[in-house]
Amino acid sequence: MLDAINAARDTSLASLAAAADHAALDAWKSANLGKSGPLADLMGKLRDVPKDQKPAVGAALNAARAALEQALEARRASLGDKPSTDELIDVTEPGFVQTWAQGRRHIITRVRDELGEVFARMGFEVADGPELEDDEHNFIKLNIPPAHPARDPIDNFYVDDPRTSARPRMLRSQTSTVQIRVMEAAVAAGGGKLTAPIKIVAPGRVYRPDTVDATHSFMFHQIEGLYLDRDVSMVDLKSTLLHFARAYFGKDAEVRLRPSFFPFTEPSAEFDMKIRLRPEQPVRWMELGGCGMVHPNVLKACGVDPEEWRGFAFGFGIERLAMGKYGIPDIRMLFENDIRFLQQL
Ligand code: DAH
Repeated sequence: MLDAINAARDTSLASLAAAADHAALDAWKSANLGKSGPLADLMGKLRDVPKDQKPAVGAALNAARAALEQALEARRASLGDKPSTDELIDVTEPGFVQTWAQGRRHIITRVRDELGEVFARMGFEVADGPELEDDEHNFIKLNIPPAHPARDPIDNFYVDDPRTSARPRMLRSQTSTVQIRVMEAAVAAGGGKLTAPIKIVAPGRVYRPDTVDATHSFMFHQIEGLYLDRDVSMVDLKSTLLHFARAYFGKDAEVRLRPSFFPFTEPSAEFDMKIRLRPEQPVRWMELGGCGMVHPNVLKACGVDPEEWRGFAFGFGIERLAMGKYGIPDIRMLFENDIRFLQQL
């Protein structure tokens, strides 16, 4: 019996040496170590072995099996790693800790896009205009006369000297410039006249040489709206603002208009919204911006016939909203790019 065991072991070892790849090793394993392999066969005969020899025969069988298993492992190792089906991936294992910082959009960018999306649902397209403007678009066509205090060099970032240049360039001080740009482009596309309604919002950066403090910055963001059609009224203006307030701030939002003055609208109003900026807060009134019916002089300056077209415009600051909504106490935090602050939003 012991001879048979050794012979079986040696035969198996010899055939193992001939197995050249992992597939051959798998086949060898089931032929030699499996249930119908030679050792299993001999194991079955153990019960016929005389009792006094059983321990020795049993030990020899175990040793032979161990030798074959060891030889198999050695062969496997020499063939290199094998993607084995026994080594299933444990999907519950914790992943690698990400050591690089994950970026995200700046909070002002996010609020700007959210505002654009809410207005888009009301049919407003998002328009854009240059930040480097000229006084024609920033003032003249917006019906802001030369003597108006808003044009004072001290209140604007002029690139060209406004006293000597015919058409001084400047960093725009308001997004109302985009109203002019959009109307001009529409009139040009219509061969000199407006041929279809205009309904746009224009979010973007504006610049004013204000002294920087917790609520003022030399650069901030506004969103402008313009809707021109054949039969637009103050009612449409107010209901648009109300729809916007409800869509963005919730069902209990309210809007109120207070009479005011802007050169580019008549009548003009400032608007407040009664809104809940944060879920844990009550609704409260917040001054947001200016609005009104587009002044006929503005329409005429852009080649739009005020007898045929009427419309409303509005504009408000984005930082105030974002600061209220996210509990940001100081506007400077938004632009200092301190990663410890930006990461929290
Ligand atoms: N451009 C104004 C500002 O910066 C805001 C504004 C007021 C925009 C009335 C408008 C408007 O479109 O109709 O203070």
